[in-house]
Parts: sequence; structure tokens; C-alpha cells
Amino acid sequence: MSEIRQRKTAGGASNPTPTPANAKKPVPQANKNGGFTCMPLLLALVLIIGATVSTSFVLTKTLTFGYDPQALRKHFPRKTITLTTEELKQYDGKDPNKPVYLAINGRVYDVTAGRDKYYGPGGGYSFFSGVDAARAYITGCFQTHLTHDLRGLSQAEIDSLSTWSDFYEKHDIYFYVGQVVHEPIPDDAPLPEPCS
Ligand code: HEM
Repeated sequence: MSEIRQRKTAGGASNPTPTPANAKKPVPQANKNGGFTCMPLLLALVLIIGATVSTSFVLTKTLTFGYDPQALRKHFPRKTITLTTEELKQYDGKDPNKPVYLAINGRVYDVTAGRDKYYGPGGGYSFFSGVDAARAYITGCFQTHLTHDLRGLSQAEIDSLSTWSDFYEKHDIYFYVGQVVHEPIPDDAPLPEPCS
């Protein structure tokens, strides 16, 4: 009697001829909850983030390769704000939970990224924070000219302010946030005193 003999594998197990039923590729196994596990992917992600952050810390002593995450805000569209002179004062850098704003001739800039170096308490230019000190930007008088009052200055001097507004507007880490609306200055108000 003729008998079709099955080929034996090294271990002795039989290796049946593939049929449509048993030739199927293995399909991903569902976990107990019926979903597919993404643990390996998550683990890889955590490892990559961990390695990146550690490398950054070793090289730059910061977790972001020295880049200030605050500065990212510059690249996102924002609604502009309108403040009064009084409201602007709260952004003078003293409250670490608030951004630092300064203004030049009504235009308000976020200079939070410069808080530690210049604009926070003790910073070399902290007197500019929370105010519109347009006059001082022109005259360099940082005692009595920390005001938006430009009366008595020439048109050329007033025009020179654009150097500073451009500085903040085009800066990598500072940006325009809106405007400050001041009360009109009474005609009979005395001119700001010159620096002695
Ligand atoms: C109208 C006069 C002036 C104005 C309005 C002015 C304003 C400023 C401002 C706003 C900053 C900070 C820049 C930033 O945020 O990155 C700055 C930085 C600086 N200013 Fe002035 N400045 C004036 C005059 C001077 C003068 C006369 C000197 C030198 C004697 C000077 C030396 C500096 C230095 C060295 C820095 C950089 C400080 C640092 O990197 O720590 N500034 N200035």
C-alpha cells in the first residue's frame, strides 16, 4: 500500500505542507483588554526624550540645550492686548508668575526672556519694566525721564525711537504683545526734569 510519508524536522516534528489555512502570516495579538499594546513605542519615546534631556544637561547645564522655552511663544499667533498705564505696572518683573512687559510710545513688548539679565529686579535695565519710558530711550536719562511724555523733544529725536521699537520687535526672544493707552497729558503739566 502506498503511503505518503511526512518529512520529519530535526526535532522530529512533522512539517505539514502549507495550506491556505496554515500559511497565513501571524497577526498582532490583542491584549487582555482587546486593544493592541503600544508599550514598546512608549518605552522608546521615553528613552529618546531621556537621552536628549540628559545630553542637553551634560553639555549646557540646561534641559533644553540652552534654549529658553518662553521664547517659543514668539512663534505662535497671539491675540494682542490693550492695557492702561496702571495695568502695565503689574508686569514690572517683580512677580515671577507674570510676564515682563515694557512699552515704547504706546507699543508693549514682552521681554520676559530678558528677566534675569536685564529686566527683573536687580537687572541693569529693570527701570524700563512695567512702564512706557519712551522719553528715557531717547535721552538716556533713566531717573526723571521714565515716562511716555515726549513734549519738548524734536521730531528727529522722536523718530529715533524706532531704533528701540525695532530692536524689541525684531528681536529673537522679545515680541510685540499690544498697546498701552495713556491718559492725555495736561497741557499745563510741567516738562520732565532733565537728569542732573
Ligand atoms: C539712550 C541710552 C541707552 C539706552 C536706552 C540703553 C538701553 C539698553 C537696553 C534696553 C539694553 C538691554 C538690551 C537687551 O534687552 O538685550 C542695553 C544693554 C546694554 N547697554 Fe545700554 N542703553 C543706553 C546707553 C548705554 C550706554 C551709554 C552704555 C555704556 C556706557 C550702555 C551699555 C550697555 C551694555 C554693556 C549692555 C549689555 C549689558 C549686558 O550684556 O549685560 N548702554 N542697553
